[in-house]
Amino acid sequence: MPLHVSNLQDSIAVSAELEKLLARLGAKALAAVALPPQTEVGVALMDDSRIGELNRAYRGIDAPTDVLAFPLSEPGEDGERWPPEREEEHYLGDVAVSLETAARQAAAQGHPLEREVAYLVAHGILHLAGYDHECEQGARLMRAKEEEILAGVDRAAARPRLPRTTKVGRRGEKARAYLALQGIDAAELLGAAWEARRYAHAPYSGFAVGAALLGRSGAIYRGCNLENASYGLTLCAERAALAQAVLGGERGVAAVAVVARGDGLHAPCGACRQALAEFGPNLTVITQKKEGGDFLVFSLAELLPVPFRL
Ligand code: THU
Repeated sequence: MPLHVSNLQDSIAVSAELEKLLARLGAKALAAVALPPQTEVGVALMDDSRIGELNRAYRGIDAPTDVLAFPLSEPGEDGERWPPEREEEHYLGDVAVSLETAARQAAAQGHPLEREVAYLVAHGILHLAGYDHECEQGARLMRAKEEEILAGVDRAAARPRLPRTTKVGRRGEKARAYLALQGIDAAELLGAAWEARRYAHAPYSGFAVGAALLGRSGAIYRGCNLENASYGLTLCAERAALAQAVLGGERGVAAVAVVARGDGLHAPCGACRQALAEFGPNLTVITQKKEGGDFLVFSLAELLPVPFRL
């Protein structure tokens, strides 16, 4: 079971329904952020005074809050692996939830406590997986993922399904609906990719490519292709952008935009699909051939259904 729930309070009863909901939520949340199913997360249910102590100790805020996330490792920590490993298991970290604050918020929203706690736990797990709401785009991505996770466990939260991908990608309204459900701003990402393309070093092929990656935090990382007189050394724009995102501390990629002019369908090459799958097997791929023009939207899972895994 991916979630290990401990109840550290006795002011609010933990219903069997809540236990069941959290048991379902663990697997859904991990799948939604493409973490391996053996990943584990600790969930501590507590009261306001206890979460207040944690908030003071770790964030210097002397007040209770609804949810806190404690990743086992931070990006950039020497020798840390992602996802982290503890013994044979992948232990992601811990999520603390105040049931007292959750109960107040549930009453204010007019929905059951179970739904509020499920939402808070999903929010905490997303933080552990590298999502962040500090910037506007990050908040949109996180909100969309929360909805996706909750829709999978709670019928009352059901939302329209993501449209199925088609062989030639999606254009127009269907593409916009797909992106909106995921909280992705395609125009911004495509703009960054066209900007990156200007830096392309492509004197041998004359084919300039720009890429922009949307990290889970909501930050954008750019890349361009980099050719060499020894042709085989060429680095594609997507992989150049990936290096930037990893260095930026991202733990996953939500989307990539790839732009180039000319004929043909400029979806990422096979090598780049494999490289991208490492950071988001179900990430969204957007391609465009004319600035401000039509674009195609794919899911990477469609472009690379069976990636190589160790
Ligand atoms: N290229 C990319 O940047 N990304 C891809 O996914 C495919 C190809 C670059 C490599 C080379 O510089 C040029 O396009 C022509 O192959």
